[in-house]
Order: sequence, then structure tokens, then C-alpha cells
Amino acid sequence: MSPVLSPSVQERVRALLESPPGETHDGYLDLLDAEPTPTVAQRVMQSTFLPQIYERVWRPVGFNLAKGWPVGPGTAAEHALARGWLGLGQPGDAHKPAATVLDVACGPGNVTRALAAGVGENGLVIGLDAARGMLARAAADSRDIGYVRGNAVALPFRSGTFDAVCCFGALYLFDDPWAAVDDMARVLKPGGRLIILTTRRPSLPVSRLGSELAGALAGVRMFGDREVTRALTDRGFTDLKQRRYPLMQLVAACR
Ligand SMILES: C[S@@+](CC[C@H](N)C(=O)[O-])C[C@H]1O[C@@H](n2cnc3c(N)ncnc32)[C@H](O)[C@@H]1O
Repeated sequence: MSPVLSPSVQERVRALLESPPGETHDGYLDLLDAEPTPTVAQRVMQSTFLPQIYERVWRPVGFNLAKGWPVGPGTAAEHALARGWLGLGQPGDAHKPAATVLDVACGPGNVTRALAAGVGENGLVIGLDAARGMLARAAADSRDIGYVRGNAVALPFRSGTFDAVCCFGALYLFDDPWAAVDDMARVLKPGGRLIILTTRRPSLPVSRLGSELAGALAGVRMFGDREVTRALTDRGFTDLKQRRYPLMQLVAACR
């Protein structure tokens, strides 16, 4: 049976859109006219196979190693940190903020659901991704989360809409990451918070060269230690936080 986006969630998502709503497919609103330019990595993301193994195998193995497992934060710790830095509640809290939250490049909804666990009853959490298979998987069991098919580099939402924006594991895939950051800044309310988990270029010359080469072949960009923080400062973000892991970095800031 095809998943159904709850009508009230659907209406609330439509009210935040810049242009007239698109079609609903497999439980998500489809607003993507043109596909983002596919690199090798993008093609993998759009495959029908990856969504089946993403959450249980690909994500924990790949990301936890890149974050320096067993020293770096595991998935649960990463989620708790994201909720904390975004000013959301934690799952056991009696009172959670009724925040409006956007998860950019949400994949199968793994981080989106973790964010939803930190939002109170009247809040709204939306996941946006370009890949149909990922969204169908995300929407399958999440009636209270709104899913939208769109391009992270041209977000379909009105300016000043969200209290919090999250973009995990995707900035390095975008054809124009800084245009995506511009748009994430645009859709945040003044005082809203942004958190980004992305790649980190290693400092040792040999591993740096290897990672840059592998990244270039696959279409994955490696960011320097100060590149993302500087991009946020240049756009007027304040209260910057950063954690560096061997091949990843977590950056958060306030609009
Ligand atoms: C590695 S997954 C990350 C999923 C999740 N955020 C996480 O942290 O596990 C990357 C996602 O980015 C999406 N993506 C890549 N480029 C995109 C774009 N331009 N617009 C929207 N989504 C994009 C892919 O479809 C894929 O689902």
C-alpha cells in the first residue's frame, strides 16, 4: 500500500512553499522539475538499491568510520548533538519546542526522524531530498513528517520560514554548496539555527591527496577546516560551533 502524507501535515507544508504545490507521490510532495546534475556519488544516491541498505549498513559504517569510530560520536550521539545545537528538545523531555525544522538532503529520513523526536506537538518537521527512492522509503512510516522532493541548491520554501535547518552528509554532493548555504540562510528565521555535517579534508599531505583524488573521481568535495565556518561568518551567522573528526566536521551557527 502506498504511504499517505497526513492531510494536515500536507496542508502545513504547502503553506510554507514559495510557488504553487506540486504532485503527491508515494507520500511526498514532488516539486522537482529538473534533476540536479548527477555525479558518480549522486547516481549511487538515486539508485533503488541504496535506500534499502542506507540506514542499517551504509550510514553507520561509512559515517562512523569517517567520524573516527570508536572515538568519534556514534549515530545516537550525533543525533543528540544535532538536537542540542539546534535548540530542540531531547526525546525524554517533558516540554519540547514547537519548532519548524527543515532537514535538507534527508535521504531515507534517518536524521529527520531524530529531529522530530526533539520537537513538540505543534512543531513541524520537513525532509527534502532529490532522490525518489530515498523519499519513498522516508515517507513509508512517517505520517507526521512532511517530505518534499526538491533541490537543496534552490529550496522551494519562503524566506524566513524555519527555526532550524539541518544538512547532514550532503553538502559535499551539491554542485554548488555555497548556493545551498545561501538558500539555507534565506529560509531560516532571524535567530534560527543551522547545523551541517560534512566532509573534512585531512591535514596529512598523503591522506589529503588520496582523499582529494578519490573525492574528485566520485564527485565528493572535501572541505578545509575553515572553509564552512568562514562561509557562515561571511553570511552573517554568529555563535559558531565546530567539531572536527578525521574525515568529517560538524558545524553549527545562529542566523
Ligand atoms: C548521504 S545521503 C544523506 C542522508 C542523511 N541526511 C544522512 O545524514 O544520513 C545524501 C542525500 O543527499 C541527497 N542529495 C544530493 N544532492 C541533492 C540536491 N541537490 N538536492 C536534494 N538532495 C540531494 C541524495 O539524494 C541523498 O539522499
